[in-house]
Amino acid sequence: MKNMFAFALCLAGAVTIGIVAFGNAAQGADDAPDKAAVARARKQALMLDNIYKQTIVLITDKYVHGADDYPAGSAAVKLFDIISKGGSHNVRLIDATGEPYELDNVAKDDFEREGIKRLKAGDATYEQVVQLDGKPQLRIVTAVPVVMKKCTMCHAHYADAKPGEAIGAISYIIPIE
Ligand code: HEC
Repeated sequence: MKNMFAFALCLAGAVTIGIVAFGNAAQGADDAPDKAAVARARKQALMLDNIYKQTIVLITDKYVHGADDYPAGSAAVKLFDIISKGGSHNVRLIDATGEPYELDNVAKDDFEREGIKRLKAGDATYEQVVQLDGKPQLRIVTAVPVVMKKCTMCHAHYADAKPGEAIGAISYIIPIE
């Protein structure tokens, strides 16, 4: 039997609807991490998200002038791989358009596929509490919109996106402690 708790989140400035699902079939409510711990993990995720996104935009703005320059997207994929191997949290940059630059940068499981669906529908984030390696972890995907015109220099099809529409996502797994 699944225990589903849905609640609305108010984040500074922006209102985000998130669904927290304590979805481990074998798990009782007593094993579910407390709300404050989940909120701390979410706060951590959104802080990282802001830093990563500001960095990608800054690199694109200041260093990427032509299609031959080293893209911030490539830097992000490399950086996220190194960070994920470091063990503090897991992070991936994925496509939400169906036309990724790299075939590896796509939603890889039901959670990420559902997340992309929600982000395309206009939600800013989608999340789920899961048990991984015997520990509670927060999975959360956040929307990547076309923040500047330069993005279409390499991703021509981003020009078809509506203003604010998610063309990509960042997918996190954050330990709940
Ligand atoms: C100079 C070319 C270039 C520019 C400009 C660029 N990208 Fe990319 N982007 C790439 C490449 C190449 C990859 C694949 C990186 C990899 O997997 O190593 C990529 C990957 C991505 C991905 C992961 C999905 C995929 O398509 O593989 C997203 C999302 C993304 N970029 C968003 C953006 C956004 C948003 C901007 C504008 C801020 C932007 N990109 C600007 C070249 C570019």
